[in-house]
Amino acid sequence: MNPSAVDELTLGDYLPRFESFHAQVANGLMRRPKMLPAKFLYDKTGSELFERICGLREYYPTRTEMGILSRYAGELADLCGPQCMLIELGSGSSTKTRMLLDRLCEPAAYVPVDISREQLIEAAASLCGDYGPLEIIPVCADYTDGLRTPATRRAARKTIVFFPGSTIGNFEPDEAMRFLRGYAHGGGCDAMIVGVDLRKPRSVLEPAYNDAAGVTAAFNLNLLRRINRELGADFALGRFYHRAIYNEHAGRIEMHLVSRTEQAVRLGRTRIMFEPGEPITTEHSYKYTLAGFANLAVCAGFEVGRVWTDPRQWFSVFYLKR
Ligand code: AVJ
Repeated sequence: MNPSAVDELTLGDYLPRFESFHAQVANGLMRRPKMLPAKFLYDKTGSELFERICGLREYYPTRTEMGILSRYAGELADLCGPQCMLIELGSGSSTKTRMLLDRLCEPAAYVPVDISREQLIEAAASLCGDYGPLEIIPVCADYTDGLRTPATRRAARKTIVFFPGSTIGNFEPDEAMRFLRGYAHGGGCDAMIVGVDLRKPRSVLEPAYNDAAGVTAAFNLNLLRRINRELGADFALGRFYHRAIYNEHAGRIEMHLVSRTEQAVRLGRTRIMFEPGEPITTEHSYKYTLAGFANLAVCAGFEVGRVWTDPRQWFSVFYLKR
C-alpha cells in the first residue's frame, strides 16, 4: 500500500461498533431457528477469505460477472455518461470497479462503501495511485442502514449506484425490494448497475458454496471466531461444521453452521443452548430468474434499461433507470 495515497483519503466512518454488533448477534442467536446476519462474515480475515473464494474453481459468480463486465464495459460506460459519480456498495477489493473506471468518461468521483474498514482503505489507496485525478471518497458503513450521498469536489451529472457480485442475493426478496425502492424513490440515485446470480442446477450451485479446499467452510466458521474475539463468546469451533444446501423451492443457497453436539455457548452473560444437529443460518444467497429479478426491479420503481448475461446464462448484470 502506498502511504502517501492513504494521506490523501478522508474516510467517512459510520460503522456502528460493539453495541449494535452485540445486539444483532444476541437477537439472532435467541431466535429459532438461530440466524446471524451475513454482513458480519466480513471482518479482516473474512474479507481475505472471501477474496480467496472468488478465485476458486467451483465459485463461478466472480469470474462470470467479470466476463460480462469486461465484455460490455463500453456499453455500460455509455449508459452512465460523462462526469458521473459512481457509488459502489460492498466494494471489497474494488477489482470489478476498475473495468468500469477504465471506460467511464471523466468520472466525477468514486465512492466505495464497505463494512470492512481495513480492506476499504487498502482498496481506495491502491485506486488513488492508479487513477490520479479521480476523487475517491471511501465510506465505511453498513449500507443496509441507508446511505447519504457525499459531497464531491466536482458536480456530478448522474449518480450511479454499482451493486455487483449478487450481494443483493443476501437480502430476502421483500428486503431486496425495499432496498431497491429506497434508491428508486430516494432522489440521490439516477441509475443502478446490479449483479444478479441466476438459477442453475444444484450440481453447480452446491459445490460453489462447498469447495473442496474448504475455504468457504473457513469463511463461515470465522464468524464464530470473530464473535468470540469481539463479543467475548466461547464458541468451540471444532464443535460446529459448515454446510451449504440449495433450497430449490425458495431459489436460494442456505449456509449453515451446524452444532455437532448438544452444547451451551456463552455470549457475555447469556447462555445459548444447542441441540445436536441444530443449525445457525449464516447466509441466504438467492438465485433469480431474469424475469423474476426484472419484475422485482419494476415493482421497486425502476425501469430495466438493459440486461447482459454470459452464454450459459449463469449470471446477469442489470442496468436499472429511475
Ligand atoms: C458476496 C453475498 C455474493 O452469496 O455468493 C460466497 C457470499 N458466501 N460464498 C454469495 C458467499 C459463500 C457471496 N456474496
